[in-house]
Amino acid sequence: MQISIISKKESDFSCDALILPFFEDDYGYYDNLIPSLSKQIHKVFQKEFSGKLNQTTLINCPENLKYDRVLLAGLGKKEDITSEKIRQSSAKATCFLRDIGMKEIAISSGLISSSGFSISSFLEGSLLSLYKYNRYKKDDNSKNINSITILSEYSKKLEEEIKKTKIIVDAVYFARDLINTPANDLTPSKLANISKSLENKLTSVTVLEKPDLEKLGMGSYLSVSKGSDEPPKFIIVEYKGKEIPPVVIIGKSITFDSGGISLKPSEGMEKMKYDMAGGATVLGVIKAVSELELPVHIIGILPATENLIGSSATRPGDIIRAYNGKTIEIISTDAEGRMTLADAICYAKNYNPSVIIDIATLTGACSIAFGNTAIAMMGNSPEFMEKLKISGLNVYERVWEMPLFEEAKEYLKSDIADLKNSGGKSGSLCSSAYFLYEFANNTPWIHLDIAGTAWNDKDKPYIPKGASGIGVRLLFDFICNLK
Ligand code: BES
Ligand code: MN
Ligand code: ZN
Repeated sequence: MQISIISKKESDFSCDALILPFFEDDYGYYDNLIPSLSKQIHKVFQKEFSGKLNQTTLINCPENLKYDRVLLAGLGKKEDITSEKIRQSSAKATCFLRDIGMKEIAISSGLISSSGFSISSFLEGSLLSLYKYNRYKKDDNSKNINSITILSEYSKKLEEEIKKTKIIVDAVYFARDLINTPANDLTPSKLANISKSLENKLTSVTVLEKPDLEKLGMGSYLSVSKGSDEPPKFIIVEYKGKEIPPVVIIGKSITFDSGGISLKPSEGMEKMKYDMAGGATVLGVIKAVSELELPVHIIGILPATENLIGSSATRPGDIIRAYNGKTIEIISTDAEGRMTLADAICYAKNYNPSVIIDIATLTGACSIAFGNTAIAMMGNSPEFMEKLKISGLNVYERVWEMPLFEEAKEYLKSDIADLKNSGGKSGSLCSSAYFLYEFANNTPWIHLDIAGTAWNDKDKPYIPKGASGIGVRLLFDFICNLK
C-alpha cells in the first residue's frame, strides 16, 4: 500500500476515485475547490445524501476532471464530530471503493483539518478497515486498493502523524495475523520464534524453557502445559528506550484452550485459538513502540502454552505450588489463564516495575457482561486505571472498571490449599481478577479482560470480523502518554 501526501488542488489531481468528506446538511465546502462538481453535489444533497455519519454516495464525474468517481462520505453533525466518527466514516468509504474495484484513491483533507482534527484519523480508519486474513486461500481473487493519497499542504507534523499511523496500523495487523492463525501453525514454539523477530538494538528477547521454569518453581504456569506435547515457552521481550523502572505488560498466551480435562463444549471450540490474543497484543505494542524508538522502558511477558488433555494433564483436584510459594487447588482445568498469569505477575515483580498490566481473554463472563463493546478493567492502582480510561476514550477501545471487592476472596477459599483456581461461574469476571490480585498484592497492577472484544463474529466499521487486535492501540496510547 502506497501512502502519500500531495499538495495539489482537488480539481487538478488524477486518481480512480476521490473521497470528499461532508458534515450533515452542509454541502457548500467544495463549491470553490471543485466548481464543476457543485451542481451535482447540491443535487444529491436534495435527494439521497445528507452527510449523516457513515452515509456514502457515489458520483460520476464530468469529463474535465481527472478522476471518474467521487465518493461523498458523511461525518454526521459538525458539532458532534470526533476522531472515532472520522475513522468509521473513512472505513465505510474506503471499503465501498475497494468493493467496486477502485485501486488508486485520494482523500480531500481540508474539511477535517479545518475542524481541528487530523486527517491521520481518516487514514487510520481506512487502513484498519482494509485488513484481510487470506494466508490459507489458494487463490486470492479479492479486490485491493493500491494507493491512498492525502490531498493536503505538506507539513512535518502531518508527515510524522502519518508515519505514526502506519506503524500503529502495522502493529494491529501483526496482532490480528497472529490471533487469526490456527493453533497448529501457532504453537508456543512458533510464537517464541516470531517474538525473536522483534529483536533490534533496543529490544531483546529471552525465552525460558521448561527446565528453567521447573528450576524457578513456576508450578502454576507449568500445570497448564502438562496435557500437551508442545513445550511451554515463557517469552520475555524487553524494550529499553530509557533507563527507568519498566512498565510490564503480560499477555495471556494460551495458543489453544480446549479446557483440559474440564473439557469445553465442542460448539465454538475452534475459536479458542484466539486465547493468545493478549500475548499478540503485547507483541504488537512493543513492535510499535520500538519502531518509533519511544523513550520508555517496556517489558512484555508471554507465558505461552497450550491447554490440552493428554494423559499427563493436570486433573481437577490436583494441588500445585506457584512461583511465589502459594498452593492452588485446581477446581477447573479450564480456569487456566489465571494459572499462567499468576506466575507471570510474580515473576514481573522481579523487575521492580512502575506498573504491571495484564491483558487476557480470561472469562466467558466478560463477554456475557460487555459483549464486544468494552474491555473489563480491575486493579489496585486508581492512578494508572484513570490513564487507561482516558486512552480507551482516545482510541475508542473503551475500558470499564469493575470492582475488586474483598468479598470475592470467599469464592476462592479452598479447604486444603491457600486458594482454589475457580469460584465457579457466578461472579467469575471479578473473582478471576481477585485471584490475580492475590499474586499482585501491593505492586501497582491492572487486569484487562478482553474475552468479549478480542474476536468479532460480525464486521465492525474498521474491524473486519475475526481477530480485532484490540488492546494494541489502547496500550500504545497509554505508553505514549506516560510522562
Ligand atoms: N479462555 C477462556 C475464556 C473465554 C471464553 C475467552 C470465551 C473467550 C471466549 C478461559 O480460559 C475460560 O475457560 N474461562 C472459564 C473460567 C471458569 C472455568 C471459571 C469461563 O469463563 O468459563
Ligand atoms: Mn479456559
Ligand atoms: Zn482460556
